Amino acid sequence: MLPVLEGVVMELQDCALPLLREVIPTDKEDVAFKDLDAAILVGSMPRREGMERKDLLKANVAIFKSQGEALDKYAKKTVKVLVVGNPANTNCLIAAKSAPSIPKENFSCLTRLDHNRASSQVALRCGIAPNNVKNVIIWGNHSSTQYPDVHHCKVNVQGKDETAFDAVKDDAWLKGEFISTVQQRGAAVIKARKLSSAMSAAKAICDHMRDIWTGTPEGEFISMGVYSTGNSYGVPEDLIYSFPISIKDKNWKIVDGLPINDFSKAKMEATAAELVEERDTALSFLGV
Ligand code: LMR
Repeated sequence: MLPVLEGVVMELQDCALPLLREVIPTDKEDVAFKDLDAAILVGSMPRREGMERKDLLKANVAIFKSQGEALDKYAKKTVKVLVVGNPANTNCLIAAKSAPSIPKENFSCLTRLDHNRASSQVALRCGIAPNNVKNVIIWGNHSSTQYPDVHHCKVNVQGKDETAFDAVKDDAWLKGEFISTVQQRGAAVIKARKLSSAMSAAKAICDHMRDIWTGTPEGEFISMGVYSTGNSYGVPEDLIYSFPISIKDKNWKIVDGLPINDFSKAKMEATAAELVEERDTALSFLGV
């Protein structure tokens, strides 16, 4: 991949970014991870035709164990790690477990892409810009079991805040097609482009990292996959699970106390069950 990296370096230079001082292309972990403040782990083994989910997990456990160990050894203890490569939640958990000297709270996985997809679907349906849709939630896994939840969403229509259900005026769509569209969006992009999402994923990574550094506005939350231990929603412990999150001073907090109805509860449990299974399979490869 080193010749490919040369192309990436050229593109970065060609962006003429005012804050970019230096680019160090390398395939050496001790160089790549040295003194990092932020790590965005994008690379993972993609699923190929005929590959079992188990085989995919096995290959990725090896990659993220090695990257976690390298973070533990070379990065700053304050490093913020964002895992993007799929299966992102479980890869993130393995990286965190492989870096015992770095707090688990410093690790998160990307569900902002799903969050943006959900906001955008609601906005398109209402004929408004997506920045008028706040507080959608992605619960669980960055997979087709994720639960895009609009029960706490605020939609600003012509200067007035409304619930998503009042703004969209189509409960059946919100409880059906909306959810499956967001759940299947990654696969739909791959089908159309013959490649995984690129620009929207990059935008979501920027949104995620910017919010960690600068915080979320009062009363607003975003979605990210974080360590589940200690959550108040009854999600099993020791998972990387996507929750509604607010951020201040570079520390995230799960937004507590949102009422959860039976419809939501069942969907939150289904995606948690998938993550428990992924975690247990991944840990068995580590011999834990
Ligand atoms: C996406 O959501 O666009 C990607 O995670 C899909 C994929 O499997 O690469």
